[in-house]
Amino acid sequence: MIKITFATQKPKDKKTGMVALVPGQETFLHLMPEEQKLVRIGIGAEPEKITRRKLINLIRRIVIVAKSHKLQKVALDLKDLHLKHLKLEPGDLGELLGVNWEMANFDFVEYKAKPKEGFHFLEEIILVGNAHAAFKKGVQKGQLMGEHINNCRRLCNIPGGEMTPRLLAEEAKKAARNTKVKVQILGLKEITKLKMGGLLSVASGSVEEPRFIILEYKGGGAQKPVVLVGKGITFDSGGLSLKPGNSLLDMHLDMTGGAVVIETVILAAKLGLKQNVIGLVPAAENMPSGSSYRPNDIVRTMSGLTVEVLNTDAEGRMVLCDGLTYAKRYNPRLVVDIATLTGAALVAVGKRASVILTKDEKLQTQLMALGEESGDYVWPLPLWEEFEDEVKGTFADLANIGKSRWGGTIEGAVFLYHFAKDFPAWVHIDNAPRMVAVEGEYLAKGATGEPLRLLIKLLEAK
Ligand code: BES
Ligand code: ZN
Ligand code: ZN
Repeated sequence: MIKITFATQKPKDKKTGMVALVPGQETFLHLMPEEQKLVRIGIGAEPEKITRRKLINLIRRIVIVAKSHKLQKVALDLKDLHLKHLKLEPGDLGELLGVNWEMANFDFVEYKAKPKEGFHFLEEIILVGNAHAAFKKGVQKGQLMGEHINNCRRLCNIPGGEMTPRLLAEEAKKAARNTKVKVQILGLKEITKLKMGGLLSVASGSVEEPRFIILEYKGGGAQKPVVLVGKGITFDSGGLSLKPGNSLLDMHLDMTGGAVVIETVILAAKLGLKQNVIGLVPAAENMPSGSSYRPNDIVRTMSGLTVEVLNTDAEGRMVLCDGLTYAKRYNPRLVVDIATLTGAALVAVGKRASVILTKDEKLQTQLMALGEESGDYVWPLPLWEEFEDEVKGTFADLANIGKSRWGGTIEGAVFLYHFAKDFPAWVHIDNAPRMVAVEGEYLAKGATGEPLRLLIKLLEAK
């Protein structure tokens, strides 16, 4: 974590670079007479037009620019961050700074040789000026969030061979040490006993056994819990419906939903949220082999509903449906599932928002607002009744892909809806569009860890 200190005067030592946010477009480095470095970061011609979205990027840019000039320690005048027109509460601004500085300082380097001079990470930020107690608290909270987002990104970025269902489960246990989160791992035997046919069929082609990861945090007394279900496909080859060529790339990140769920429950505990939160992660590897599940197999899921497998690459919904069925035993008041479920979500919205699908309009509006607040942007697609027959099977109750060529993201959600009908509230988040960072958002290549920030905000609001 970056060390954040507060000072009343600008430091004068050579080692501390000064950062100044200035109107204009250019960003450049000055050497001051006393050899102290000054980095002027241009924040655009009209600072009074900076939006919350732009501020988030600007905060990250401070770290990226400092790193690019090989500065390990920088100082920044708090006045520079005072964008009056945004009317930010001190705690809110602090949190935005903490979380985005941490996110921008992350890079996945553990598989690289360490350069002689070490990797370039920012070590310290000195904030000069008068800081509110609420602001300081916000910074701390933001940094803690950033730490968990970054751990989530780390879990995602680790190659599939080294992040199998078993290892993902071990990571969950490790992360929960010394917290109030209880972790339980179900192995092949227990999963078989529970008749989780969906999870078992996806896992059947791999030498790696499936795991069903359960995290329980009880901070909300007698209140009914919120259950989070995350897709934990540690590598998605497509199975016998093998993905072609480059489509196989990045499919070790198909456990992003699962990693987000693990880190969210643990962070909720560390933040002491007054909520009961359950995390469920059905984890498996989707591989082609002589023991794989096949197209036209009929699978009996834990719910009792049967599913005709028309494409083994639509495996996310096969494991999630059992996760949703398992969620019923908690009698939840809200269920959220998070999954890199469809490439079609990228076709629909591009790479800058996750897609949300729910029948609950209030929840949809709330999630869009919390998305803006957190920086984990979401955009809705419809989940109309008319779509429900799309995933009816010919020889089974359901089919795992839709009948039409269109609206793949909706079809995926509608399939899941058949297992979520009984919940008082349910939303499906397809985070495939946000699986990897895009250019211009000042994040390292690879996993983004979204939508962890959004889920924390949702838990805080509920
Ligand atoms: N994991 C993929 C979806 C995905 C694709 C996520 C690209 C991120 C980037 C998912 O399991 C999948 O393969 N979905 C299929 C569904 C189809 C067979 C109905 C897809 O999107 O093509
Ligand atoms: Zn797939
Ligand atoms: Zn997948």
